[in-house]
Amino acid sequence: MTLNLSQIGVQMSSLTGVRGMMKDVQETLQSKQGQEFLVLSAGNPLLLPKVEQMWRECDAELLASCEYGEVVCRYGSSQGYVPFIQAIAAYFNRRYGLSLSERNILITPGSQMLYFYAANAFGGYTRDKELKQIVLPLSPEYTGYGGISLAPEALVSYKPTLDIDSSSHRFKYHPDFNNLVITENTGCIIFSRPCNPTGNILSNDEIKKIVALARPYNIPVFIDSAYGPPFPALNFQDMIPVFGENIVHCMSFSKAGLPGERIGVAIGDYKIIEVLESFQTNLCIHPSHYGQAIAARAINSGALEFVSQEVIRPFYKNKFSVLEAKLDQVMPKDLPWFLHRCEGAIYGWLWFKNLPISDWDLYEKLKHVGVIVVPGRFFFPGLEKDWSHQYQCIRISLTASDQDIETGIERLAEVVQNVYQSAVVPSI
Ligand SMILES: Cc1ncc(COP(=O)(O)O)c(C=O)c1O
Repeated sequence: MTLNLSQIGVQMSSLTGVRGMMKDVQETLQSKQGQEFLVLSAGNPLLLPKVEQMWRECDAELLASCEYGEVVCRYGSSQGYVPFIQAIAAYFNRRYGLSLSERNILITPGSQMLYFYAANAFGGYTRDKELKQIVLPLSPEYTGYGGISLAPEALVSYKPTLDIDSSSHRFKYHPDFNNLVITENTGCIIFSRPCNPTGNILSNDEIKKIVALARPYNIPVFIDSAYGPPFPALNFQDMIPVFGENIVHCMSFSKAGLPGERIGVAIGDYKIIEVLESFQTNLCIHPSHYGQAIAARAINSGALEFVSQEVIRPFYKNKFSVLEAKLDQVMPKDLPWFLHRCEGAIYGWLWFKNLPISDWDLYEKLKHVGVIVVPGRFFFPGLEKDWSHQYQCIRISLTASDQDIETGIERLAEVVQNVYQSAVVPSI
């Protein structure tokens, strides 16, 4: 049967970014013919026993309570499950000295959905057929932003500046304020902090600058805190969430152990929240209650804050130390490889300056030695294709065992050495 899809049908039925290349990973793993693979590509958080136990206990409490029927047998508010919204408001007011009311909060079925609402409510074509851009101030960025706009031409991102420390093989991206364009044609701004894939944490000053550029035009700034504090608190250095009039603080409960429950949270001005809420009513009526009901318990008891800070954060911070130590031990000192400073999240981001082959070819070569990583090119949504840097990076997930990370990096070092040796070796 040939399906006659609409333009949006064609667009939304093709997978963008990393989701598209995961098919290749699955096929490789299925047809492995006796070869064992070290999978350093997975973005799925690991099942940590203490985290699972916390959710199990919240489940047991909910099942035993008289609230259960209201949670699973009844429709509810489009804004989200009220006891969960109340728990979020009370926690944030206490923790950050805010004065949020329930009107400032929206719960969505996962935060990916929240960015879809945001991108299409504020970006895309206006009634006067003018294009409002969805601006990602710093590329590379979360690959999932690549598919959120129904008008893909609205998505625009900007090359960063690079702060390179050659002797230690480290680097860090910063927004390039000389080139960043925010005007009345900007619909909204989105960025992740800490960033997937790089682990970068934009400084409070950098955020203040972005927010100040957006403020005169009433442009909402969505700060994607999927890895940020207070939950799951995957920041490895001090980081204070930034709140403000045109800022929407966005959270996800996925990396706090509930990816299957699909919980996203938006906190911001009630006028922005109301727009997103109507979008949600039209799309799906409201998000599922179950995860929200157990999450409310974990917040109110303090268990989620404790587990985030004492279990989730140290676990991934330690994984990053394993990766970093192995890279420093086995990667050739005379080659121009650079690890992005990992300030948070669950990934390592490597840049190979003047890489003689593409990131995809490097991915293929690594597959041949049984290591699966993610080619960097998928993390530049909205960027013009002419920047060679896009084809010189890979992402390594911190979701494998220590042993797998170490063996994977040993093989990576050999492959990279061969790749540079077979070409003219550039100096650092
Ligand atoms: C930066 C970032 N934002 C948003 C998401 C989407 O998360 P979810 O829809 O599970 O809340 C992810 C998922 O990995 C992510 O890495």
